[in-house]
Amino acid sequence: MSEPAQAVAKEAVRVAASLHQLPELPYALDALEPHVDARTLEIHHGKHHASYVDNLNAALEGHPELQERTATWLVLNANKLPDDIRTSVRNNAGGHLNHSLLWKAMAPGARTRPEGPLAEAIERDFGSLGGLRKQLEAVALKAFGSAWVWLARARQDAGRLEVLVSSGHGNPLTQGYYPVLVADLWEHAYYLKHQNRRADYLKDWWNVVDWREAERLFEGSRAPSESLHFPFP
Ligand SMILES: [Fe+2]
Repeated sequence: MSEPAQAVAKEAVRVAASLHQLPELPYALDALEPHVDARTLEIHHGKHHASYVDNLNAALEGHPELQERTATWLVLNANKLPDDIRTSVRNNAGGHLNHSLLWKAMAPGARTRPEGPLAEAIERDFGSLGGLRKQLEAVALKAFGSAWVWLARARQDAGRLEVLVSSGHGNPLTQGYYPVLVADLWEHAYYLKHQNRRADYLKDWWNVVDWREAERLFEGSRAPSESLHFPFP
């Protein structure tokens, strides 16, 4: 291979490696049945999440210095993005980040309760797991339009746990919170199975919450802020 051709090939590999990619689901499409149906999961992951990844890559075309940034960085640093791509990058990087967290927040045959420090913190801040459940459902049902509901840990206030809603593809990281657990409130997450019944969807969702993942994120959030590790895309 000639030197220029080698350089082109090297550049192609570098750029390809820096493109955002749709993560594989950590389980089979029907693994969360009957609570989350396979058809919804197939469209949600393979069409909706995939389109956020594709749109993010398209928006970043011609910006090699930004193509190398993670979705988390792009969400946290939207103010540093060029005006003409800021909205598109923020929305699509947010969609990519939030859905990547969502797939991991669920698991087949998961434990029904948190354990350890997360269980203690839930008891401290909500009274009980039932208290968290009640508050999260109430907040989620009041959330207007397309949004996400989170259990998140404040970076201040002694690391208090709170239930938050973010509209569009917002993420609590931008508000000084660290995500612990997440449910997607966009209708594409439940319309096929539950139609407009968000409350029924949430009742089903509790059955597939992966408390081990929530415990892992909670542990990660305990580190001092300067060494916070974001295990996100
Ligand atoms: Fe979604």
